[in-house]
Amino acid sequence: MKTRFCRLSGGPEDEEIYREAGAIIREGGLVAFPTETVYGLGGNGLSGASSAKIYAAKGRPSDNPLILHIAGMEELPALVSDIPDAAKRLAEAFWPGPMTLIFRKSSLVPPETTGGLDTVAVRMPSHPAAQRFIRAAGVPIAAPSANLSGRPSPTTAKHVREDLDGRIDMILDGGPADIGLESTIIDVTEETPVILRPGYIGREALETLLGKVELDRAVFAEPAQGVKPKAPGMKYRHYAPKAEMTLVEGAFAAEAILKEAAASARAGRRTGILCSEETKDRYSPLAEELGAEGFSLKLFCAGRRSDPESIAHRLFGLLRQFDEDGIEVVWAESFDEGGIGTAVMNRLRKAAGYRIMRT
Ligand code: TXA
Ligand code: MG
Repeated sequence: MKTRFCRLSGGPEDEEIYREAGAIIREGGLVAFPTETVYGLGGNGLSGASSAKIYAAKGRPSDNPLILHIAGMEELPALVSDIPDAAKRLAEAFWPGPMTLIFRKSSLVPPETTGGLDTVAVRMPSHPAAQRFIRAAGVPIAAPSANLSGRPSPTTAKHVREDLDGRIDMILDGGPADIGLESTIIDVTEETPVILRPGYIGREALETLLGKVELDRAVFAEPAQGVKPKAPGMKYRHYAPKAEMTLVEGAFAAEAILKEAAASARAGRRTGILCSEETKDRYSPLAEELGAEGFSLKLFCAGRRSDPESIAHRLFGLLRQFDEDGIEVVWAESFDEGGIGTAVMNRLRKAAGYRIMRT
């Protein structure tokens, strides 16, 4: 299949592109599109056949349900069997935006879209291109992140192309995603709302609005502990670069990273350090020294610790960069939890396959 690549300008001249993208969806095809979190791979969410195509294009297990994307509140009642009070308050506060809510589904939503569950995930993205695309399609858009299963979620159209060129009908390029991490998923079907996947909207902000909010225990449990996550997708190996990545935690992390990175590089393995603006100068003399000896150590700066959003924004791009640069071993710093930091650490632990060194 030939994939059409369309750059959006943000102006009225995009109208023709949206019209074509909408027609592709109604005919059962697939279109990747930008959102404020990551790029999505969209199909007609009310068609079981379209959802099946999404799973096939991504190589995703079909028991891992998709998120339905809507452009306005008026689309919600048809998709769900009831709208709990907590959901109304959350929607008012955070939609459109980087939040997904789990509802009991209506009979309109086919089982293929929800991986056979009787609940459905719904999100109203704020990105203007996502809004225009959903409206042009005229149906709710089922969309997982637009990566091959197991790869980091795409934050640029180039990432989407790397994974899905030739497998889908169209890619809409709206530039880099603002946030860079997937939405916060909240289950509102229970008495107390539960965060199934941490994201941009942190637990603190949710509790300010609702009172008590729980975090699904599986979010920070290692798979070996056997806690079954409530979001089926959270159980899969995810985001992993080809490199063997170790996350180094604790007060002496920098010292440990210097020692371990020097050893891996001198063992002849292409080595990377994932660090921050505030810490990168601690490692640069070692990188120079190893370079002069003919070994390879490269620094990957994720962003500023003083600005956790900058780290979220770059993280997935860096995970892909390791592969592009042929890095074989990565020693990664860890970052503060809380707010979006909780989401950053959740993705990093998964990317490291829970290989964690505590100092
Ligand atoms: O930011 C985002 O949420 C992006 C953009 C494209 O909107 N989408 C995204 O979709 O990250 P995906 O498919 O990569 O992740 C969806 C997650 C999976 O972990 C899935 O298991 C969970 O949502 N999920 C979907 N429906 C669910 C349901 N009914 N109950 C529990 N978890 C659900
Ligand atoms: Mg995903």
